[in-house]
Amino acid sequence: MQTIAIANHKGGTGKTATTHNLGVVLAREYAQRVLLVNADPQASLTGTCGVQDEMSPNEAAGRTRFLKQIFSLAEVLGGAKPGHVPLRDVLVDLGANLWICPGDTALVAAAQGLSARLQRETVLKKILATVEQNFDVCLIDCPPDQGLLTINALCAAHAVIVPAQPTAQDLRGLLLFIETVKSIQTEINPSLLFLGILLTFYDARLRHHHDQVQCIAEAGLTILPVAIGRSVRVAEAAGACQSVFTYARHHPEAQHYVALAQFVCERLNLAYPIQARVEENQTIAPEEMRP
Ligand SMILES: Nc1ncnc2c1ncn2[C@@H]1O[C@H](COP(=O)(O)OP(=O)(O)O)[C@@H](O)[C@H]1O
Ligand SMILES: [Mg+2]
Repeated sequence: MQTIAIANHKGGTGKTATTHNLGVVLAREYAQRVLLVNADPQASLTGTCGVQDEMSPNEAAGRTRFLKQIFSLAEVLGGAKPGHVPLRDVLVDLGANLWICPGDTALVAAAQGLSARLQRETVLKKILATVEQNFDVCLIDCPPDQGLLTINALCAAHAVIVPAQPTAQDLRGLLLFIETVKSIQTEINPSLLFLGILLTFYDARLRHHHDQVQCIAEAGLTILPVAIGRSVRVAEAAGACQSVFTYARHHPEAQHYVALAQFVCERLNLAYPIQARVEENQTIAPEEMRP
C-alpha cells in the first residue's frame, strides 16, 4: 500500500477535493483498491463521500448514505491512551473499489490526547500498517494546520502532495509548510517523497497566477505537471456527495484529475491494467473487509 498525504496548513486550497477526486479516479479508472482517510476534524471528506453519523428524515431522500457511524478515526487513534477500535471496524465501503475511514470532531480531542503519548508522531503509521495488505493506495486528507494529525499523516506517508492556490498570500504560507515537510524528512520519515505542489483554482489567463507560479519555481519547488482549474462543477459535485468524475465525467477538471491519477500511478509505480474501469457496486477488495 502506497500512502499519500494531501496536505497544506492553509484551508481552502483544495485538499479535500483532491483527496476525494483523485481517490475516485484511482479506484475507478486505474482499478486501485483505495482507502481514503479523513484526518481533518471538520470532516468535509466524510460528508462529501456521503457518510453521515446522523441524519434528519429530510435528508433521507438525498444522496446521503444512512450509516450509523458510531466510530471514526478518533476512536482508532485514541488520545492519551491507545484507541480501543481496530481500523478495519470503522471502514465504510463506498463501492467501486473505494473505502473511507471517516473522521469527526472527536479528532480534536484525539489530537490533544496524542501529545501525551510516546512516539506520538507515528501512531497513524502503525494503525495503517494493519490494513496495508488490503489496499493499493491510501490518501490522507489532512487538516489545515501543522498539528499532530498533519504530522502523523506526513510520518505515515510515502509521498506528499501539497495543493496550493497560486496567489501571493498563499505562497508565503506555502514556503513555511514546505519547511515542515523538510523537517519531517530530516527527523522522522527520510523516505517521504515530496511529489510536488498541485496548483488548484488555477487560471492560466491570469497574470497574477502566472507570476506566482514563476515565484514557486524560482524557490526551487517542484510543481506537478497537472493543474486543477476553478470550476463550479467541482463544488457542485461535492455538494451532491459526488466526485467531479462521476458528476461530470467529460468536464476538463474531471479529466485533469484523471491526468493527476495517471501521474501518481507512474511516479509511485502503481500497477494498473490498461483500460481498467470499475463500475458502481463492483469492488475487488477482499471479502473479509466488507462490514
Ligand atoms: N477546482 C475547484 N473549483 C471550484 N471549487 C472548488 C475546487 N476545488 C475545491 N473547490 C471548493 O472550494 C472549497 C474548498 O475546497 P476544499 O477541497 O474543501 O479545500 P481544503 O480541504 O483545502 O480546505 C470547497 O467548497 C470545494 O467544494
Ligand atoms: Mg479539507
